[in-house]
Amino acid sequence: MERITSNLGYSIDVDYEIDRRVAEELSGGNRFVVTDSRVYALYRGRIDFDALGDRLYVVRAGEASKQLKVAGKICERMLAVGCDRATEVVALGGGVIGDLAGFVAAIFMRGVSYVQIPTTLLAMVDSSVGGKTAVDLGDAKNIIGVFKQPSRVLVCVDFLATLPQRELRSGLGEVIKTALLDEELFGRVQSHLTELFVTESEFIFDTIVRCIRFKIGVVERDECETGLRKILNLGHTIGHGLEAADGHRLSHGEYVLNGIRYELQLARFRGCVDEEYARRIALLVDTALESKFLPLKRLDRVLRYAASDKKNRNGNICCILPVREGETQEAVYTKNEFRQALERLV
Ligand code: NAD
Ligand code: GLY
Repeated sequence: MERITSNLGYSIDVDYEIDRRVAEELSGGNRFVVTDSRVYALYRGRIDFDALGDRLYVVRAGEASKQLKVAGKICERMLAVGCDRATEVVALGGGVIGDLAGFVAAIFMRGVSYVQIPTTLLAMVDSSVGGKTAVDLGDAKNIIGVFKQPSRVLVCVDFLATLPQRELRSGLGEVIKTALLDEELFGRVQSHLTELFVTESEFIFDTIVRCIRFKIGVVERDECETGLRKILNLGHTIGHGLEAADGHRLSHGEYVLNGIRYELQLARFRGCVDEEYARRIALLVDTALESKFLPLKRLDRVLRYAASDKKNRNGNICCILPVREGETQEAVYTKNEFRQALERLV
C-alpha cells in the first residue's frame, strides 16, 4: 500500500484488496453511495450493495448520465432517505461517477463531504484527485461544476482486472498526457507502454502512484486553475471538441490521445516543439491509439466547442502545446487564427 499525502487536506491510498478496503469504506456510518450500472453488475457479488438499501443510487453507465437532471434526481433521493450535512457521499466508479457524485456532494445542502473510489484507470490516474466536479450542459463538457476536494481517495488497483482494453486505452490517454508534463514518466512510459495493459503489474501500480503525485503537486500550487493547472489540459482543447463533435463514440481518453496528436501538429506549425521529441510523442500516441485515429471533420462543431473551453479568456482560444520533455507552452489563438490552424490540420 502506498499513501500519498497532500496539503489539500486529504490523502490518497493506492492499494489492492477491493473486498476488504471497499467493505471498510462502506460499512456503517452516514453514507450515500453513487455508482453506475456496469460497476454494480460486475461487483454485486463482491461488494455488499444490498446492505446499503435506499442509500445506493445506480445511474446508467456512460457520459450521458453526467447531466444536471441526474444530479437533481440523486439529491431528491438523498433528501427522501434522510441524508443530512453529516452524510458522506461515496463515488464508486469511473470519471463519470466521480464528477457527478462529487458535484452532488458540492451542492447538496450547500455541500457535504465525499470519498472517491475510482474503478477505471482514467479515474485512478486523474479524475479522482484534484477536486474538479462537474456535469455537462448538453454536449458541452463539464460546463456546470464546482471545485470541491474529496475527503479521501481510495484506489484499489485490482478494479482494473475487469476493465475492457478499450477503457485501459482511455486511461492511457491521461497517463501519456501526464508523461508529456513529467520528464521521468515520459521515459518510463515510452519504454514500457505495453506493460500498461497488464493490469496487475508493479509497473501499472507505480505509474498510477507517479501520475497522482504529479497531479497533486500541480493542484497544490493552483487548485482553481488560474494558471499552472491549465497544463493538465494538454490535448483537451481539440480532444473535447472532437468528443462533442463525434457524439462520444470513442472513450474520453481516446479523444484526448487524438487531441494530443493534433495539438502536437499545432506545436509543429508554430515551430515551438523539438522535432526529435515530436517524433517520439507521435510514436507513443500512435501505439496507444492503435487504429483509433480520428480524421478532423465537422470543423465548425470542433471550433464551437473549443471556443467554450474553460481555459479561454476574452474570446481567445488557449492550447497547451508540448515543447520539449517536461516543458509546455500556452498558445493563445483568436477564433479566426484557430480556425485557420484547424483547416491546416485537415
Ligand atoms: P466512465 O466513468 O464512463 O467509465 C468508463 C466505462 O467503464 C463505463 O462504462 C463504466 O461503467 C465502466 N467501468 C468502470 N469501472 C469499471 C471496472 N472496474 N470494470 C469494468 N468496467 C468498468 O469514464 P472514465 O473514462 O472513467 O471517465 C471519463 C470521465 O471523466 C469524463 O466525463 C471526463 O470528462 C471525466 N474526467 C474528469 C477529470 C477531473 O479532473 N474531474 C479528469 C479527466 C476526465
Ligand atoms: N484533468 C484536468 C485537471 O484536473 O485539471
